[in-house]
Amino acid sequence: MVGEEMSKELGGSLLVENVQALASNNPLVDESLQIPIIDMRKHMVEDDEMGKLHLACKEWGFFQLINHGVAEEVIEKMKVDLQEFFKLPLEEKNAYARLPNGIEGYGQPYIFSQGRKLDWGDMFMLGSLPASQRNMKFWPENPSSFRATLDKYSLELQKVSTCLVKLMAKNLGNNPKHLTDMFENGRQAVRMNNYPACVNGSNVMGITPHTDADGLTLLLQVNEVQALQIKRNGKWIPITHIPGAFIINIGDIIEVMSNGEYKSVEHKTVLNPEHERFSIATFHFPNVQAMIGPLQDLVKENGALYKTLSNIDEFFGLSQKAKLDGKSLLYHMKLEN
Ligand code: OGA
Ligand code: NI
Repeated sequence: MVGEEMSKELGGSLLVENVQALASNNPLVDESLQIPIIDMRKHMVEDDEMGKLHLACKEWGFFQLINHGVAEEVIEKMKVDLQEFFKLPLEEKNAYARLPNGIEGYGQPYIFSQGRKLDWGDMFMLGSLPASQRNMKFWPENPSSFRATLDKYSLELQKVSTCLVKLMAKNLGNNPKHLTDMFENGRQAVRMNNYPACVNGSNVMGITPHTDADGLTLLLQVNEVQALQIKRNGKWIPITHIPGAFIINIGDIIEVMSNGEYKSVEHKTVLNPEHERFSIATFHFPNVQAMIGPLQDLVKENGALYKTLSNIDEFFGLSQKAKLDGKSLLYHMKLEN
């Protein structure tokens, strides 16, 4: 569990000073346009922080998580190994190339969300959990520590995700067991992104606008090149990342399960004219037993706003269909459609 001992390792007070400095000393940062900052350590003790998390999920769909309890060395090692991998010669990376109809491997974008045709960057996608379903032929042996590093990283992130899902279930007023059971031993996939510097960056997108299809995404900004933007009230808002924080967003599945109370928000990345950028998005899906639909406790008042699918494979099927007809996955899940 993400508990106190793990949080201690992070030296949280330093992070909090950074946040305050960011908010109060930087005239360029309009606080009202910044996604909420949630302090995981405070959740152990403070009700206020629970309220903040609820609003973040309802009104922003995005937040930055500080004091998340993942040891700094686990994160730093992941950053190093990932950059080493992307630096390898193309032939070597191509040994892990994605197959024409596959999802995993090195190459170009995959099926988890639609409209990615114009993405400009390399990505490397791996199914990371459950560990028994890993397809090791895609897991690089160079750098030699890569496999062990990703193993540790994926387990740590699963813990954070599980903890957040539990807090969200409490906030939704749902029996926390229903939601947490569905994410227990859930599937996790890691998408490692490498966006080159691009002088004409304004015409090309790192990742074109999309919502994430999963339940919950944890994003690690590997080097501090800012590029992520989210759509809010019809406008694109750049995110100013806080060093050490994970950027978390609600995916389509949690929007559906919360019966629309929590929002899966559109986002994109732009390219930087001078600097290449690396990031790792870790996607968390429910387990194979879970039905994908609004939680029973949440449909009593207004009725269900979304369909219920009998399992995650049906959901991926619909995702494929959405990709082909260009409509969003959520469009297909909404009952009036
Ligand atoms: C994604 C994503 C954002 C980023 O991989 O789905 O939104 O900053 N990534 O790389
Ligand atoms: Ni995304």
